[in-house]
Amino acid sequence: DATDKGEFRHYMMKEIYEQPKVIAACLEGRISESKVLTSCFGADSGFLKEVENVHIVACGTSYHAGLVAKYWIEDLAGLPCSVEVASEYRYRKVAVPKNTLFLTLSQSGETADTLAALRKAKEQGYLTTLAICNVPSSTLVRESALTLLTNAGAEIGVASTKAFTTQLTALLITSVAIAVENGLSAEKEQALVNAMRSLPAYVNAALLQDEHIQKVSDRFANKHNALFLGRGAMYPIALEGALKLKEISYIHAEAYPAGELKHGPLALVDEDMPIITMVPHNGMLDKLKSNMQEVAARGGELYVFADRSTNLHSEDNIIFTEVPKVEGILEPIVHTIPLQLLSYHVAVVKGTDVDQPRNLAKSVTVE
Ligand code: AGP
Repeated sequence: DATDKGEFRHYMMKEIYEQPKVIAACLEGRISESKVLTSCFGADSGFLKEVENVHIVACGTSYHAGLVAKYWIEDLAGLPCSVEVASEYRYRKVAVPKNTLFLTLSQSGETADTLAALRKAKEQGYLTTLAICNVPSSTLVRESALTLLTNAGAEIGVASTKAFTTQLTALLITSVAIAVENGLSAEKEQALVNAMRSLPAYVNAALLQDEHIQKVSDRFANKHNALFLGRGAMYPIALEGALKLKEISYIHAEAYPAGELKHGPLALVDEDMPIITMVPHNGMLDKLKSNMQEVAARGGELYVFADRSTNLHSEDNIIFTEVPKVEGILEPIVHTIPLQLLSYHVAVVKGTDVDQPRNLAKSVTVE
């Protein structure tokens, strides 16, 4: 029952802990032993063969999920993908190339700007409109040609958690489905499907760091600012981590692609500025390590989230949190979990209203 907090003090924590289960629910019936089942898009899945471009439009956390999908779609399918916040998209002249898919993301399906963007898009000659949404009876679902439901169950905490990770799961399904029509080999599809099947267990493993993250959070209570860094698909996760911290702990947080540090934000770094870094184990590891040295050299305190194979560990001004080692494609989803826990525990330490942060509404139905 979504309205019952059970053993948890806040809905947000309950929803964080529901993620292994709801991610499994999002995958259910959408993958077979070896394939993504295109029937999940309904009878009109023919668009998958025709799509040559993707435009993703959403707000807030849903927009961050879209930013991750850009990396997946361009990497797996080799198709151009652009991502934009709905409040900008709706008021500008857009150029729509032939055979472009218009994809909206929304937990509620009632966000005014996203609905306005969809209504505008319907006049722009798109190939079709697809909504990835959590509420089957929502306006967005009713007004879109195609829907892929996230199946996360009702989300009550204003700070979106399980809606985000199930959006990412649904986006991964969609990215692979498009990629299959654009030359993805059967072996690669099989490997991606295997990885997806492991996702609930990986998220469970990430949740095991809860107690450690709670201890780490104490150090944040007296901070006024924080900087989140990520590279590649981990950059949108840094944006999402910063948004979560802002929303519920009221600590000012910004996110940057780590390579941008030298181009300005490095000037902010001193001993009062915690730097939160998501470190995937890929070709960018050494580059990220050198970004971290730039921070350490200026006395900044680094909070590093990485798996053990990176050989990173706690030392002088590095506070290390272990994230399970997973297939690269899944890293954005799995790395989201510790950041949700961090913002939750910081907010609890600060004594804010976690589920109902000041000035915010769960669903922004007015402009
Ligand atoms: C997330 O924590 C926020 N509360 C907010 O950014 C939210 O994601 C945004 O308003 C979009 O909502 P939607 O997904 O229901 O469209």
